[in-house]
Amino acid sequence: MIESLILQQGSGWRAQAEVFDEIFFVFLALGTLVGTIVVAYTLWNVYKYRDDGDEPKEGFDAPEVGELPTGQGGPKAKKLFLSFGLSAIVVISLVVYAYGILLYVEEGPDSDGDNIEITVEGYQYGWDYEYPNGHTETGEMIVPADTRIDIAVTSRDVWHNFGSSELRIKTDAIPGDTNTNWFSVSSEEVQAQGGEATYRVECFELCGPGHSAMKGQITVIPQDEWEAWYEDTGSDDSPSGNESASGNTSASIGGSTAGGVPA
Ligand code: CUA
Repeated sequence: MIESLILQQGSGWRAQAEVFDEIFFVFLALGTLVGTIVVAYTLWNVYKYRDDGDEPKEGFDAPEVGELPTGQGGPKAKKLFLSFGLSAIVVISLVVYAYGILLYVEEGPDSDGDNIEITVEGYQYGWDYEYPNGHTETGEMIVPADTRIDIAVTSRDVWHNFGSSELRIKTDAIPGDTNTNWFSVSSEEVQAQGGEATYRVECFELCGPGHSAMKGQITVIPQDEWEAWYEDTGSDDSPSGNESASGNTSASIGGSTAGGVPA
């Protein structure tokens, strides 16, 4: 089965990546099953009704062009309605299942107000992030593990699209408009990546000659480390802010250069 890429912390939280992988697997498995049955049944009928050189049976009612295939010998249209019925059940079940699970992706898990909202602003060519305390970062978004991160995405010039393939998030960045999305990465995943989980961010909307270089990064660190880092950012405007900016905490998080990300 599919190994979850990013598991969520506690209380039934599921990562978008996990949900999308599950939907993909269910559609692939059902599609393969139905396809196998249909092809096998077709081949069997091709063999069964092959032209073996005999004369047609007396009273054989050969189908004509435009006639509904009602099935020879049985009650009228039995096979037709059986296959329509089965198809309808499969399709309606898939619609209900996918709709229900995508509602979760749309609304996200209940964070009891512990979520963090970050404004993402795209520009030609890079990404700016603004935290609730007014602190801004360019290129690298640093967030805590086990926390629902809500992003409000906009643009200051042309249309961009903020997305991370690994996290399965993707949101239009449109000037004068704000689109929201969310993601969360578990501390288990952060541990698995050596105490700091990183995800590449790319622009998914052709926005000019620098489009393909419009990269960024989401860096997820343990909650306590993040809180220490975030407290320091609150003093951006005060004189002590300069000291902390060159302190250990931010240095250990990995350098962010304007608009760029280490390859
Ligand atoms: Cu911004 Cu492409």
